Amino acid sequence: MNKSAYKILNTALVCALPVLMFSCRAKDNYQGLEFSPNMYHSVAYEPLKQITDKEAGMWVSNRADGKGEYYNSNEFNPHRMNMREPVAGTVSRNKDGFLPYRIKKDDWETAAKNLNPLPDNDAVLSEGEILYGKFCQPCHGLGDGQGPVGKVMMGVPAYNKGRLAKLSEGHIFHAITFGKGRMGAHGSQLNQKERWQIVRYVQALQQK
Ligand code: HEC
Repeated sequence: MNKSAYKILNTALVCALPVLMFSCRAKDNYQGLEFSPNMYHSVAYEPLKQITDKEAGMWVSNRADGKGEYYNSNEFNPHRMNMREPVAGTVSRNKDGFLPYRIKKDDWETAAKNLNPLPDNDAVLSEGEILYGKFCQPCHGLGDGQGPVGKVMMGVPAYNKGRLAKLSEGHIFHAITFGKGRMGAHGSQLNQKERWQIVRYVQALQQK
């Protein structure tokens, strides 16, 4: 190619450039250029973020259903939500799979009938022993009520004598949850699973 041919090509390119740039302009309501819009606007149907405007993001849309790129609600669900509300009467469970403990503080009778949901095995017992050592042993000792704090506090009852030797697992759980008499509540420091683990160990101490 000779020099003048280069010149012609060069001039042609320079002239073509503005034309090419203008072709980047979108429709009339041009909103500025957004580089990979899917990075900012999730295409996935999010459970709690509904965009109900069918036209939203129309200017960048290439959806097959003819709706805007950002439209993401479900027309068949109530409130056009993507996530449906739980069925009426659904009972929530916490992350350990336990139902909320709703027995009232003074209702020892109902509490006493409650049963330990954990399996009867050594793993539960030894977890209970560790937790008991941290939360109960300072007062209760090894069940005799003669822990270092118990000695000072005085009147911490032994688990293996009289009424206490016959306390049911549900009653012990309730006592840990809300406390009793001079003993403080431990429900806020131990979750339900931990409390039932401790109950197993206290039951072992009742037999001592
Ligand atoms: C600060 C000392 C202290 C701590 C800590 C403590 N207790 Fe007690 N506990 C007591 C005292 C005092 C009583 C007697 C309460 C009363 O009858 O006034 C008692 C009573 C009990 C009873 C008998 C309840 C009844 O019906 O008479 C059980 C069961 C029991 N505690 C279990 C536990 C367990 C399990 C833990 C650990 C999660 C624990 N306690 C932590 C001091 C303590």
